[in-house]
Amino acid sequence: MRLDKFLVECGLGSRTEVKKLLKSGKVMVNQVVEKSAKTHIDEVQDEISYQGHVLTYEKFVYYILNKPKGVISATEDPKHRTVLDLLDETARQKEVFPVGRLDIDTHGLLLLTNNGALAHEMLSPKKHVDKVYRAEVAGIMTEEDRHRFAQGIELKEFICQPADLEIVAIDENRQTSLVHIRIAEGKFHQVKRMVAACGKEVTDLERISMGPLVLGDELDLGAHRRLTAAEEEALAVFGVEV
Ligand code: URA
Repeated sequence: MRLDKFLVECGLGSRTEVKKLLKSGKVMVNQVVEKSAKTHIDEVQDEISYQGHVLTYEKFVYYILNKPKGVISATEDPKHRTVLDLLDETARQKEVFPVGRLDIDTHGLLLLTNNGALAHEMLSPKKHVDKVYRAEVAGIMTEEDRHRFAQGIELKEFICQPADLEIVAIDENRQTSLVHIRIAEGKFHQVKRMVAACGKEVTDLERISMGPLVLGDELDLGAHRRLTAAEEEALAVFGVEV
């Protein structure tokens, strides 16, 4: 790997910034000052230090983004802003991508990583990774709907796996419901379609958890953060290197 790429990925700054750091003679490769950005290093074997501190290379990185409405869960899009536009330079340099998709008008928890094997496992239908959504619904969700969710809602081309519907609040005056829906699949528009199959309409959808990861309330809409050590450890259940 090129030395400047390594330094950027260690979070020392943008390509331009790390070039300046290199020129100032503050970076050493195996205890020898190295000023060339183009130098190739072995990120596992070589010892790279900045101002006397040895830098450790992180192969994989993980971020939780509180995705706002209006951005696309993709790495590029001809028309709309993507979730990558909301990330910092270091995350982009690490070439992260979203693990699964949320609709453009859905907000909430989105995991981004550069760990392809982990993404594959988490998205595999065989793994049954639980996703919990908080949905505002036009219409009154009922016990009968809860029963239908538990049985497996029938959509046009498939029958959904059993899902949990928790009715959190009902507003009889406005004829609206607030519900939590737990599904283990991730089919196109699945939550909206399950609710529509009960004759009601989702008016706001937020993902609040995915597997062991919980959104919590400390991240503003559009903000992101690295996973904590405990959250990263929890990803080990998927049986791949994290
Ligand atoms: N279900 C939906 O309908 N939309 C999403 O974005 C996620 C789950």
